[in-house]
Amino acid sequence: MLNIGMIGAGRIGRVHAESITCHVKDARVKAIADPSFTDEGRQWARSLGIDEVYTDFHEILKDASIDAVLICSSTDTHADIAIEAIHAHKHIFCEKPVSQSLSKIRETANALSHSDVKFQVGFNRRFDHNFEAVRSAIDAGKIGDIHIVKITSRDPDAPPLEYARVSGGLFLDMTIHDFDMARYLTGSDVVEVSAYGAALVEPALRDIGDIDTAIITLKLANGALAVIDNSRRAAYGYDQRAEVFGSKGQVSIANDSASSAVISTVEGITGEKPLYFFLERYMASFSREISLFVQAIVKDTEVPVNINDGLQPVLIAKAAQRSLMEHRPVMISEIDY
Ligand SMILES: NC(=O)c1ccc[n+]([C@@H]2O[C@H](COP(=O)([O-])OP(=O)(O)OC[C@H]3O[C@@H](n4cnc5c(N)ncnc54)[C@H](O)[C@@H]3O)[C@@H](O)[C@H]2O)c1
Repeated sequence: MLNIGMIGAGRIGRVHAESITCHVKDARVKAIADPSFTDEGRQWARSLGIDEVYTDFHEILKDASIDAVLICSSTDTHADIAIEAIHAHKHIFCEKPVSQSLSKIRETANALSHSDVKFQVGFNRRFDHNFEAVRSAIDAGKIGDIHIVKITSRDPDAPPLEYARVSGGLFLDMTIHDFDMARYLTGSDVVEVSAYGAALVEPALRDIGDIDTAIITLKLANGALAVIDNSRRAAYGYDQRAEVFGSKGQVSIANDSASSAVISTVEGITGEKPLYFFLERYMASFSREISLFVQAIVKDTEVPVNINDGLQPVLIAKAAQRSLMEHRPVMISEIDY
């Protein structure tokens, strides 16, 4: 049984702790650390059978019986915690993005290159049943050579301004999943980025230099073109779709909903809205990604999402930010790493 230490017990930390406890074989959460633990948080941890609750993550790193850590703290802490965890010989699952700073990602990659620690990045959508089906169709050659990828990714509501202020902006916080998806579906790196953006949902975002609506086009190394559209607020719920078009055909996925019931009456035809947000839509993918991380440690195999998979979407996000600012297409090679 692998012992896991959780670092960060906010939204996603709790999702992972609960999903490991209920769904992941061969692993258990032994300890959890978060500087802002309250009595409610401690009680929640105990309800999962986690007795070791700390405010300082170093307690986890000091525990020789802990094999791996899940870094689920705020983004600006990921890389520094990861580097300390590498030195403490803990395998690492790190939530996305690895860092908003390319130099911090480089430091993390350097530390990893001198160790045998496994490092997996939390791009959970790769393990969603719909996106996996798209990728399988592509891998089976059913679509032929990929020409066009279309990704729609719209949240049901905008996050609070305090969240947006430290999130790194739409491209690094939200579109980062779509940049990863473009790479995952095409099996190719991005070489050029053009971005348009606006603050149409929450105009106050303009004051902090952020946007909530975007269209981004990508050129991939294999010649394919991709377009991503984002909004922080879709009135009808979490809108997560993709289509891949190629020389032999196309594959597309629709949203998941609570049921596939379609009600037809004299007034019209209605169906269910999409599942509300990422906790509802992607819950199964969170336990799948951790199960694969645990397997990679137990069987000493490659992790499915490595540090380069963590780096590339950050490079794409930086190029998108520059494209938006400078009103021009930006090559990935222009971004200093
Ligand atoms: N894969 C996904 O779909 C997904 C979804 C949500 C969030 N995330 C990522 O997960 C990270 C956390 O997001 P969240 O929504 O849970 O945020 P959150 O604000 O709800 O939680 C972050 C927690 O980290 C804690 N923290 C801060 N510094 C710490 C430290 N030094 N040691 C331990 N804990 C510390 C905070 O006290 C807080 O409780 C972000 O990087 C975010 O991008 C990923």
